Amino acid sequence: MVDNFKRHRRLRTTAAMRNLVRETSLEVNDFIYPIFVVEGENIKKEVSSMPGVYHYSLDRLEEEIEEIAGLGLQSIILFGVPNQKDECGSEAFNDEGIVQKATRKVKQWAPHLVTIADTCLCQYTDHGHCGMIHGDYVDNDSSLELLVKTAVSQAKAGADVIAPSNMMDGFVAAIRAGLDEAGLTNVPIMSYAVKYASQFYGPFRDAAHSTPQFGDRKTYQMDPANRREAMREAASDVEEGADILIVKPAMAFMDIIREVKDNFDLPVCSYNVSGEYSMIKAAAQRGWVDEKAITLEMLTGLKRAGSDMIITYSSKDAARWLRQLD
Ligand code: PBG
Repeated sequence: MVDNFKRHRRLRTTAAMRNLVRETSLEVNDFIYPIFVVEGENIKKEVSSMPGVYHYSLDRLEEEIEEIAGLGLQSIILFGVPNQKDECGSEAFNDEGIVQKATRKVKQWAPHLVTIADTCLCQYTDHGHCGMIHGDYVDNDSSLELLVKTAVSQAKAGADVIAPSNMMDGFVAAIRAGLDEAGLTNVPIMSYAVKYASQFYGPFRDAAHSTPQFGDRKTYQMDPANRREAMREAASDVEEGADILIVKPAMAFMDIIREVKDNFDLPVCSYNVSGEYSMIKAAAQRGWVDEKAITLEMLTGLKRAGSDMIITYSSKDAARWLRQLD
């Protein structure tokens, strides 16, 4: 009988023993729930590529907000799907735009719900890119002005946090200056610091009607092959005044989540994107995976990798499961 080996299984003998030695636990507080708001009336329409995710018109949003708050969730991120699109995405910075109107309503119904505004132009531009087009190039500096206007308008409407997802250079510095100038010094910036040009955004683009009409986003979003570049992106956002750093997508980029966590002392948020969600939903609908077990395993993995918080379409499901409501 060999005796020079370790008996790791001693700590796995019973459920109670495993609970005692568990290193990572999920909490309802960890989740941020994305919501798509649309113009119109009496709309609650499921996004075909994202089962369980809906478009809401403002008159149907209150029931959803009540449900979210009732589950104990503390935070949402709002995405607007406007009726009108134009070259420079002017509905994004219209004080009466869909996100601004939704924000005012949500803050009225649920003042304590941390309401985050995604700050980007792609849902609002007729070409579907995240900034202004010069020729066939997405121009950086002229886009910044529009993004600042958008962020200020969203924060004035009551957004608690500004989350710029456009990947223009200098967006954190520009938006910070704009918010401060408008007297909004207490509104934090949750920067999409490390955002890759990913195929995992496919279902979201259906949901947000934001597919680029020509080309792709590779001149501004990052190459999924790059790790050191991610650290440069994060470092510049920290210098420019970001308060929280987002890594996006999440599942194929867990090494990046860990590295951002270890290199910077800001809170780290991972964005568990649409494609990640829809793949599990589709497999679960076919009975190929156990949806609850696999979703909680994925979210635990993201937290273990270093996420302090997770933007996920599974927030409501996970809150129900964690609170053992079903
Ligand atoms: C807007 C934006 C996108 C997502 C969040 N904000 C799409 C994109 O960059 O094409 C993706 C979210 C998801 O897939 O769940 N720029």
